[in-house]
Amino acid sequence: MILLTGGAGYIGSHTAVVLLRAGYEVLVVDNFCNSSPESLKRIEKITGKKCPYIRGDIRDRALLDNVFQQHTIEAVIHFAGLKAVGESYAKPLDYYHCNVFGTITLLQAMQAFGVKTFVFSSSATVYGNAPIPYTEQTPTGVPSNPYGRTKLHIEQILQDLSNSDDEWKIALLRYFNPVAAIETGEIGEDPLGIPNNLMPFISQVAVGKLPELAVFGNDYPTRDGSCVRDFIHIMDLAEGHCAALDFLQNPAHPNGVHIWNLGTGKGISVLEMIAAFEKVNQVKIPYRIAPKRDGDLAEFYANPNKAKMELNWQAKRSLEDMMRDLWNWQKNNPNGYR
Ligand SMILES: NC(=O)c1ccc[n+]([C@@H]2O[C@H](COP(=O)([O-])OP(=O)(O)OC[C@H]3O[C@@H](n4cnc5c(N)ncnc54)[C@H](O)[C@@H]3O)[C@@H](O)[C@H]2O)c1
Repeated sequence: MILLTGGAGYIGSHTAVVLLRAGYEVLVVDNFCNSSPESLKRIEKITGKKCPYIRGDIRDRALLDNVFQQHTIEAVIHFAGLKAVGESYAKPLDYYHCNVFGTITLLQAMQAFGVKTFVFSSSATVYGNAPIPYTEQTPTGVPSNPYGRTKLHIEQILQDLSNSDDEWKIALLRYFNPVAAIETGEIGEDPLGIPNNLMPFISQVAVGKLPELAVFGNDYPTRDGSCVRDFIHIMDLAEGHCAALDFLQNPAHPNGVHIWNLGTGKGISVLEMIAAFEKVNQVKIPYRIAPKRDGDLAEFYANPNKAKMELNWQAKRSLEDMMRDLWNWQKNNPNGYR
């Protein structure tokens, strides 16, 4: 059985579907601080399989010990954490406590029970301001915000842990910008309050929940002046987790830390994303140009070749798929899971 911390959230829920479809059994631990058990009910409906969960916090060692005592956990995929860049400036201690202390507590529990296969939700933010495209050999930089620094600290902790004990099998999955939803539209991204990310913002404008989109900056040194990112369909990202888990669990593969970029390798600008959403879904997105945000980089995208070579994984879904599937989710669930 695979333990998914934060499995009710956006990336965790889509990964749960992919794992269940691939024949894995899963168990979710989530405190629901940014999600709802409704996503887990829908996973069961989509897959026709059980998606059991325990309401709890990864910082609660006694709770984790109970989980490992009562279930045969073979590996952990660790999604649980706080992820809002802006909020991390205002509440750095909450971010370090949840993300760094939470991960250490989880790893200590795993160590105590001899579970040593671990997949970590890292982020392209660990590259800091490096030349593009980022490869896994690109040296990590200093992320511009506390959230990003928690990810870099955790990566370093995992490397140290692996150096101390060569039985660990660890995947650092450096995500680029996940967007959209499962093709059938039952689960998707359901941010509480005003969305922090571009695509849920666009879809909430489209559905009439927000009046207009703010585009942060139009004089970056990019082809149209807006920021360029590597947007990846959430189902492609979810499949990347399954591929990484299969890799780690294959005894022919070496133990230790493996790093994979999960991106498409293509940069798309914010203005191009807006235009694509409008074209595919025939919906107008009113937007205004707002001041740049501190710490936003002009342009970055992945070189995803290592994942292709080693995991036999690559992003397959198109920009049109992303736009259609995002709108399908938002249109059918204007208030998310509520
Ligand atoms: N979405 C992105 O763009 C992105 C990009 C790079 C990395 N990541 C990382 O991927 C992971 C998942 O992201 P997501 O977009 O699915 O976010 P999300 O907020 O939808 O999911 C995180 C889940 O973790 C749970 N959680 C948070 N703190 C917890 C705690 N202390 N104990 C138990 N459960 C807790 C939340 O309730 C939520 O269900 C996060 O670690 C995030 O930092 C996300």
